[in-house]
Amino acid sequence: MIEVKDLHKSFEGREVLKGISTVFEDGKTNLIIGQSGSGKTVLMKNLVGLFEPTSGQILYDGRDFVAMSKDEKVMMRREMGMIFQSAALFDSLTVLENVMFPLDMFSNMTYRERKQRAMDCLARVNLVGAEKKYPGEISGGMQKRVAIARAIALNPKYLFCDEPNSGLDPKTSLIIDDLLHSITNEFNMTTIINTHDMNSVMGIGENIIFIYEGHKEWQGVSSEIMTSTNKRLTDFIFASDLLKDMRDAVTGAKRG
Ligand SMILES: Nc1ncnc2c1ncn2[C@@H]1O[C@H](COP(=O)(O)OP(=O)(O)OP(=O)(O)O)[C@@H](O)[C@H]1O
Ligand SMILES: [Mg+2]
Repeated sequence: MIEVKDLHKSFEGREVLKGISTVFEDGKTNLIIGQSGSGKTVLMKNLVGLFEPTSGQILYDGRDFVAMSKDEKVMMRREMGMIFQSAALFDSLTVLENVMFPLDMFSNMTYRERKQRAMDCLARVNLVGAEKKYPGEISGGMQKRVAIARAIALNPKYLFCDEPNSGLDPKTSLIIDDLLHSITNEFNMTTIINTHDMNSVMGIGENIIFIYEGHKEWQGVSSEIMTSTNKRLTDFIFASDLLKDMRDAVTGAKRG
């Protein structure tokens, strides 16, 4: 569980995060949604320690991350898996070497054990057979799956994904969503996903946090979005007339 308490972040006096408080629970796929520029990436970078909050607390299962020393933060980072917007693979390493990389860096395992662990992770994301390829030789969806395999190699407790579906077609996005969702349940991880993707919101949103101009405007589950009367939320979600009509059809049917 990750608890965020009154988190503020400013850059040169300009406040981007304006006091965010929330809880991300274990075994749940937590989604952060909000308009471009609302502060989703800045929030995630604070959570993983790439940015220092201006004020506020981040508690990892009760451990105060912000107050930790540099060394303690490095130790905590080993419990976190990260998947960035671009898959951020090493182009000069094979798929297998990419997945082995965190194990090479941070584990005491033998080469055989590391290779086995990496192959197990590749199997989990359905990529057996691709281990000798280079990132440039595989599709964007496969690259994302390699990034997921690499992120789970060290068996993290916490998994962070910034826009995992960007650049993917809707069908491939669904595969990635299902994978993140089932891995989260399987390993009882605390997973946080930044997304714009409404399919993700409706499909895997067990706990959804809507950020609006740097503050938490709304929090709930996907089924509650349909009936929410929060105008900022509905304007964001049902941005098109088509989506509005679909919502009215669904809620009308429920009433009817
Ligand atoms: N290193 C930085 N220095 C100064 N300002 C920054 C920095 N990083 C982000 N910002 C600002 O913080 C605000 C929020 O940016 P952020 O990247 O978190 O938005 P976002 O919600 O992730 O948007 P998107 O959906 O486009 O990814 C923006 O106005 C951005 O310019
Ligand atoms: Mg972003």
